[in-house]
Amino acid sequence: MLVEAKNLPHHVGIIMDGNGRWAQLRGSARVLGHREGSKAVRRTVRAARRLGLRALTLYAFSEQNWARPGDEVDALMELLREFLTTERDEILDNGIRLSAIGNLGRLPHLVRAVLDPLRRESEDNDQMTLTLALSYGGREEIATAARELARQVAAGKIRPDDVTEKALGDLMPSLAVGDPDLVIRTGGERRISNFLLYGLAYAELHFADVLWPDFGAEQLHDAIASYQQRERRFGHVGKGVQPKTEGASVTRIAI
Ligand code: IPE
Ligand code: IPE
Ligand code: MG
Repeated sequence: MLVEAKNLPHHVGIIMDGNGRWAQLRGSARVLGHREGSKAVRRTVRAARRLGLRALTLYAFSEQNWARPGDEVDALMELLREFLTTERDEILDNGIRLSAIGNLGRLPHLVRAVLDPLRRESEDNDQMTLTLALSYGGREEIATAARELARQVAAGKIRPDDVTEKALGDLMPSLAVGDPDLVIRTGGERRISNFLLYGLAYAELHFADVLWPDFGAEQLHDAIASYQQRERRFGHVGKGVQPKTEGASVTRIAI
C-alpha cells in the first residue's frame, strides 16, 4: 500500500500487544517476546520519523501491568532501561523529543535514572514527539485531571461551571500533542485496554492481527494507508457516498 505524504495523521498511538504470545508460539519464555518487541519499537520509531509523523505515543506498560509476575515486570523495566540507553543518540541526533506519561512515580530508579535526563536533554527538539506511556491508565489520567479541577474549585480559583470538557482535556499529558488521530492495536484483540480514553473520542481505530514483535515499517504504512481512505466526520454530515448516475436509477423515498 502507498502512503500519501499529505493527509498524514498528526498523532498516532500504538497499543503494542502480543509479545507474550509471540514467544509462546516459539516455545520460549514471554520475556523473549518482550526483547523482540523492543526491536519492533526501534523499527517503528524510525519508520514514523521517516514518514514525518509529528507525534507517536507508544503504550509500553499499563498501570494494570504491575499485576504481572514480578520477574516479567523486572524484565520489562530492564528492557526499558536498555532501550532508553541504546536509543539515546538516535533520539537526540534526529530531533526527537522524548516524553513520558503515566504514574511515573511508580517506576524503579533504574528506569528514572535514564528516562529523566533524556526527557530534559530532548525537551527542545521539535521533529517528532515520542511519548512513552509507562504505568499509564486512561481512567487514572481522567481521575487525576478531575482531582486537580476539584482542588481548584475548592480553593476558589475556578467555578464549578469552569469544569468543561476542554478544561479537563487541557490537564491531560497524553493530549499535550493533540488528540490521537489514529490508534493502532496489534496482537488481534479488539479492545482499548485503558489507553488514551479521553482523547479517543474521534480517533480512527486500526486493529492488526500481527503480533507486536513482527510489526515494522510495512505494517505502520498499511495502518496509515487505511486511515487515509477514511472520511472523518466528527459528528457532522459527511460527503457521503456519491450516487452512481450512469445507468443507475435513483429511488427517492418521500417522508
Ligand atoms: C504487550 O505484550 C506488552 C505489554 C503489555 C507490556 P503482552 O505481554 O501483553 O503479550 P500477550 O498479549 O500476552 O501476547
Ligand atoms: C495493553 O495490553 C497494554 C500494553 C500494550 C502496554 P495488555 O496485554 O495489558 O491488555 P489486555 O490485558 O489484553 O487487555
Ligand atoms: Mg497482551
